[in-house]
Amino acid sequence: MDRIASSFARRNCAAMLTAFLLSAPVAVRAQATQYPDVPPLLLGAAWYPEQWDEATWEKDLTSMEQDHVHLARIAEFAWSTMEPSEGNFQFKWLDDAIAMAAKHHVVIVLGTPTAAPPAWLTTKYPETLRVDNDGKRDEHGNRQQFSFASTKYRFFAHRISEEMAKRYGHNPNVVGWQLDNELSSTSFDPEAKAQFHAWLKAKYGTIDKLNTLWTTSYWSQTYDNFDEIPVHDKDENPALLLDWRHFVSDTWKSYCENEISAIRPYADKRQFITTNTMGWFDGFDAYTVHSVLDIAAWDDYVPTVTFDPASNGAEHDLTRSYKNKNFWVMETEPAFVNWRPNNNAIHKGQMREMAWQAIGHGADAVEYWQWRAALNGQEQYHGTLVGVDGEPVPAYDEAKQIGEEFEKAGAALSGTTPQASVAVMESFDSRWAIDFQRFNNAFDPIAEMVDFYRPLRAAAQAIDIVPPSADITKYKLVLAPALNVLSGADAERLIAYVRQGGHLILGPRSAMKNEYDATWTQRQPGPLVDLLGGRVEEKYALANDAPVSGLVGSGSAKIWAELLEAKSGDTKTLLTYGPSSGEHGNGWLDGKPAMITRTVGKGVITYVGFWPDEKLLADMAGAWVEEAGVTPLVAGVPAGVEVCERTGQGKTVLILINHNTTAQSVHLPAGMKTLIGQGGPDVTLAAYGVAVLER
Ligand code: GLA
Repeated sequence: MDRIASSFARRNCAAMLTAFLLSAPVAVRAQATQYPDVPPLLLGAAWYPEQWDEATWEKDLTSMEQDHVHLARIAEFAWSTMEPSEGNFQFKWLDDAIAMAAKHHVVIVLGTPTAAPPAWLTTKYPETLRVDNDGKRDEHGNRQQFSFASTKYRFFAHRISEEMAKRYGHNPNVVGWQLDNELSSTSFDPEAKAQFHAWLKAKYGTIDKLNTLWTTSYWSQTYDNFDEIPVHDKDENPALLLDWRHFVSDTWKSYCENEISAIRPYADKRQFITTNTMGWFDGFDAYTVHSVLDIAAWDDYVPTVTFDPASNGAEHDLTRSYKNKNFWVMETEPAFVNWRPNNNAIHKGQMREMAWQAIGHGADAVEYWQWRAALNGQEQYHGTLVGVDGEPVPAYDEAKQIGEEFEKAGAALSGTTPQASVAVMESFDSRWAIDFQRFNNAFDPIAEMVDFYRPLRAAAQAIDIVPPSADITKYKLVLAPALNVLSGADAERLIAYVRQGGHLILGPRSAMKNEYDATWTQRQPGPLVDLLGGRVEEKYALANDAPVSGLVGSGSAKIWAELLEAKSGDTKTLLTYGPSSGEHGNGWLDGKPAMITRTVGKGVITYVGFWPDEKLLADMAGAWVEEAGVTPLVAGVPAGVEVCERTGQGKTVLILINHNTTAQSVHLPAGMKTLIGQGGPDVTLAAYGVAVLER
């Protein structure tokens, strides 16, 4: 019996051990799931047995086992098969599929099927269908056509989830539950609107308080009662838009709680409950939703023509931050997708590059969407691991190699997680507030954050992403690229951090708004003006780049520039705008401070009032890391080679990924044992190459 089969053979006694482990301290927290009876690193695939006959199941599961795929997510779109008519539950097929998967050492994540309701439900109960921002009610035939606020829908969602949990909650081959699928579509149906008005009343208490905090005297918006408040997600008072996002976040949270309350009473503690989020997607505050989930998981797709390792790495770090522990990649692409304008394939070798980047940033599972395509439906062209005939496609071999490597390195990585001493502070409120009023359409808050994250990750070689509410005392350096919304309470935490010796870097647009999206009267950075000893005198959207130069280098500002003023004698100007050349000169900015800093005891607060060019930002990021006393894990790493480290249970594993299209050499610290790839101390990484080493 091979290693995997023997580990599966220990399933039952391990299940009890797992129940104990999950209650254990830090070591278990390092891993999203800690089951001694399944491989510590899981390669998986989305699989749809409801679309095929049992003979095909056998072929698929046999291939999965040979391909080192030991995880399948199933049933998230199978409601019409599980409940073909109201109250008529048919689970025999699912019993058999789960049992057959167990026979082939493939563990199962069960999806609640509520992202795609059956026709009998939406036909008999049309009030469960969502209504879009323009008042049009959805019809059957696609997916996510339900109203996330519908009480009636939640009744049926609770019942199917409960029936599934009663049947599979103690099934040792079911390791977890995915609620719904990619929560996203909101609804403006009458029930949702009424709930929003009630939500506002609960938050503000009186309409007078809302009118004051929203400054509704502006444009005579003043409301006499909560029911008068319009419900739209664009072209409204930014305070209303922000509260709509808060209501949506709370509504998706209660949507999840509805299904959790159906599952948890019947499911073993070892069965985690999660949902699959979508990286930068900000339809809701993911921290709010994850407050009721056990682990985080996301769908990692390349959103444009080329893969951007920095942006993708930041999404991994963002997802890890939702539960502050390892996570799962619930979906990723087997070479290509079908929903982009151009569905070009990532290059051969990039499935492996992406898979090991995920592990390096704290993933414990990487699952491909999908194993094989349905014979019909909207996704016939999407990448798969096998063809409709069940035979491998070119991507299969790369997935198989990844599976072999996960098995080989799994034991070393088990119980480990990334550790960082540098944090990037991100908030959904800030991204929303900027997107409500970009003032320069080119100011994409995600692109701006990634521009700051990219050189900082390269210099520090490990980053945590944290919300403004996080305890940041352990970090040597915190960068907030565009913390546009900052509450008084969160500001107090930042002030304490600097006074205790922390290094805080604020990017442009920081602390312009309070938690009601109202402008701080002391100008930017609001409650941090006194600590900084300076402020923003004026903001400018740039049509042309503005030159900057000074103590920390020279370069240019693009898209955005704030005119700063140092008010305190111990506040230093590090960069100044100008001189601008020719008719494009910006007279407002020339000679004015672009970046100021103040030392407070052992702490430092620095304000960068502009969006720097790539080279200047790289120079500054390197200086910030050095000044904060952060030492990179591996010195002298070539550009484009990513270093990841996971530690825990006395183990340290380095993962090197060459994101370049050319081979690169890296000199490693002594004493590293090679797990995957070439041995040290001088490692040559091929294009998209990977090396995994244990200290
Ligand atoms: C999303 C969905 C999947 C599938 C993939 C295709 O992630 O969760 O059901 O549609 O996209 O890329």
